[in-house]
Amino acid sequence: MPQPEEVVFPRRRERFEDRRKEGQQRKLLDEFFDHATLLAVSRLISQGLFDAIDFPVATGKEGGVFRASKDGEYRAVKIYRVGNTTFRHLPPYALEDLRREASVRNFGGLVAAWTRREHTILGRLVDAGVHAPRPYGHYRNVLVMEFLGTEAGGAPRLKDALVEDPQRLYRELTDEIRRMVVGAKLVHGDLSPYNTLYWQEYPWLIDVAQAIPREHPQAKALLERDVTNFAKYLRHLGAEVDRASFLSAVGVDEVGPPAAG
Ligand SMILES: Nc1ncnc2c1ncn2[C@@H]1O[C@H](COP(=O)(O)OP(=O)(O)O)[C@@H](O)[C@H]1O
Ligand SMILES: [Mg+2]
Repeated sequence: MPQPEEVVFPRRRERFEDRRKEGQQRKLLDEFFDHATLLAVSRLISQGLFDAIDFPVATGKEGGVFRASKDGEYRAVKIYRVGNTTFRHLPPYALEDLRREASVRNFGGLVAAWTRREHTILGRLVDAGVHAPRPYGHYRNVLVMEFLGTEAGGAPRLKDALVEDPQRLYRELTDEIRRMVVGAKLVHGDLSPYNTLYWQEYPWLIDVAQAIPREHPQAKALLERDVTNFAKYLRHLGAEVDRASFLSAVGVDEVGPPAAG
């Protein structure tokens, strides 16, 4: 039986011949791929979701996103780190839901619930026609989704992308947020040029686990914050943006608790 490490990184030996890369890879393995995560990843591999992990696209304190391949196509594999730090930064409204699924001390259970939540929300977004990565599956702390990028690597964040027509981008972002609010009935809550990728000359929304139903008492305030973030950024690029019309165009009137009576 091959070790899970060899299943997850079959090409590791050929790819990382030189010592320095070997060291970087070792560090990555130690940080993200604890034994339980390796087992979770190999289970997804044996289910046929992808064949192998290629390389990290982005890594941070709370997890990492890796490119994986499957029959010459690519997939993105997002791994949440299982630990108490993962949930320290979550907004309270997002934690409410999780507490119903796992006890606060059961980090593994919380992370699994969080991963499933991101999977479900991505599915709702794709169904509503939002440009967001299509989800392919999840297990424990590992989520598999559509890879936005090319052979060379992941698509740039909007923040780092070269935008030639900011006024067009404004219209496209309006369309995406409107589909999210009116179609999927969700508010993202953490929208920014960091959580938007620019792929095939179009903005794609990512990092959606904290999204909430539009009828949530805090949904309106979060949508206003999301729109304010983008308005500022779009103006900085040179677009003419009126915050009030931006808000009404994305469907703010349909957000908030149902009127009493
Ligand atoms: N589906 C994807 N395809 C390509 N790159 C992705 C994908 N999802 C995430 N990334 C990359 O990984 C980074 C972190 O992903 P994100 O979902 O924002 O996680 P975090 O919770 O760490 O902010 C993104 O900024 C982007 O560069
Ligand atoms: Mg993010």
